[in-house]
Amino acid sequence: MKSKDFLSMLDWNREELDHALLLAIELKNEWKKFGGHSFLPLQGKTIGTIFHKPSLRTRISFETGIYQLGGYSLYITEKEIELGKRETIEDAARVLSRYLSAIVIRTFAQSDIIKLAEWSSVPVINALTDYLHPCQLMADLQTIYEYKGQIDGLKIAYLGDGNNMANSWLETAYHYRIDLRIGTSPETMPAKELIDNVKKGSGKVLITHNPIEAVENVDVIYTDVWASMGAKEKSEENARKLRQFQVNQELLKHAHQDVIVMHCLPAERGREITDDVMESKHSVVFDEAENRLHAQKAILTLLCKD
Ligand code: CP
Ligand code: NVA
Repeated sequence: MKSKDFLSMLDWNREELDHALLLAIELKNEWKKFGGHSFLPLQGKTIGTIFHKPSLRTRISFETGIYQLGGYSLYITEKEIELGKRETIEDAARVLSRYLSAIVIRTFAQSDIIKLAEWSSVPVINALTDYLHPCQLMADLQTIYEYKGQIDGLKIAYLGDGNNMANSWLETAYHYRIDLRIGTSPETMPAKELIDNVKKGSGKVLITHNPIEAVENVDVIYTDVWASMGAKEKSEENARKLRQFQVNQELLKHAHQDVIVMHCLPAERGREITDDVMESKHSVVFDEAENRLHAQKAILTLLCKD
């Protein structure tokens, strides 16, 4: 029987998150040094990867990571299983658990993956929902640690839509002693329950509608698309609301001079971030994308170790 899932940063405690981060760094170093691993924790295991939305980074880094750890990745399309339509999520979860050692799923509703996890006897990993993207956050924390040598004590600004990434940053501020500033419009706010939850945690959060206040002297600036997958019809409307939160050279002048700029990607250059910032010395977006591979290998190793 599984010991845990990874549906949210709040599913794991600080010790478990730190353990995963250190393991990710170790796996990255080992892979860079030897081009392979001396241990293969997924040998003989099949991991199902279910995607109901497009993906470049998540799907390819998961499938590659599973292979690098000795396992087999089985890509399952929505057309094939029609989760929740052809049969209930409860039934599908119990059947999938008879074959697979873990389930990686990208879908719309967080409630669907919670249900899937409740009824699965194997670990379920959230590969993005409308509400959260915790695997991205683990890669982001790894990247910040590599560049800054710490996570606690940093000032981090998230600019733009109050979406799954903003929500995941709020969950991170629950665990880590960060000074998180979310710069967004009054109509694109992140989840209220997660803002309230930070008050019970280690970090602090400032929600502001002033982009300069958000980035003043920060160590990290983070942004994401203004309209997420499944909500692209809001693209123009959100662009009007969020225009002043664009990450551009002018805004960067207010941050710390060693600020790093992050974006989960895919980026819509010229909207939430300018081309010159994406290509500037501050941008760490491709290291961040690479770390998806290493961070997820650590998550898989820890969840599938039994
Ligand atoms: N950042 C991220 O999750 O990218 P994909 O949507 O391409 O997987
Ligand atoms: N907020 C974006 C993240 C993409 C990785 C989306 O959900 O489309």
